[in-house]
Amino acid sequence: MADAAIHGHDHHDDRGFFTRWFMSTNHKDIGILYLIVSAFVGLISVMFTVYMRLELMEPGVQYMCLEGARFIADAAADCTPNGHLWNVMITYHGVLMMFFVVIPALFGGFGNYFMPLQIGAPDMAFPRMNNLSFWLYVTGTSLGVASLLAPGGNGQLGSGVGWVLYAPLSTSEAGMSMDLAIFAVHVSGASSILGR
Ligand code: HEM
Repeated sequence: MADAAIHGHDHHDDRGFFTRWFMSTNHKDIGILYLIVSAFVGLISVMFTVYMRLELMEPGVQYMCLEGARFIADAAADCTPNGHLWNVMITYHGVLMMFFVVIPALFGGFGNYFMPLQIGAPDMAFPRMNNLSFWLYVTGTSLGVASLLAPGGNGQLGSGVGWVLYAPLSTSEAGMSMDLAIFAVHVSGASSILGR
């Protein structure tokens, strides 16, 4: 906290694990939390693209079937191409990468960590709001993942509208999944604004 930074803190850090990481008001700790969570979300988002590139590796459709998503190609079983599943993968890859990896890692992670050091400030201006910003980021990410698993377009799960969620395509896929996706991006916006 600002007080500790001003008066120096050579003393032992007596905060418990929960207090330090879950109720943080320290810009470096909050920055580290942002980097850890965004790295994890990045891995999830990369998994979607690995699945997409796997599908493109051979001609025809092997994995994204209407009969069910597969991870091992089975030439003996029918596979009706499932375009919705492809659209869902590209959408959540884009949404997660742009709103829940790049922005939080750069502004929330590196920004929180380095900006107060560079301007010689003891911490961010509003450390508790900064902590709220981090938890709203986690909330937004969870809503995004919930959207992927909620009933969406084409009678299937998830929304396949692209990461910008543009109307009118997004209205044609209207459902719980679309609502959750839009709300996830709103919460992520509130998180960005509160990071002070
Ligand atoms: C392992 C790394 C990555 C792989 C293999 C990958 C792969 C892909 C693929 C295959 C597509 C679909 C292209 C298409 O069919 O039009 C795509 C789209 C996209 N990727 Fe990545 N990508 C990676 C990392 C990233 C990163 C780091 C970002 C963000 C900075 C990013 C942002 C996007 C966006 C915004 C789209 C468009 C989504 C949409 O149209 O809705 N990707 N990526």
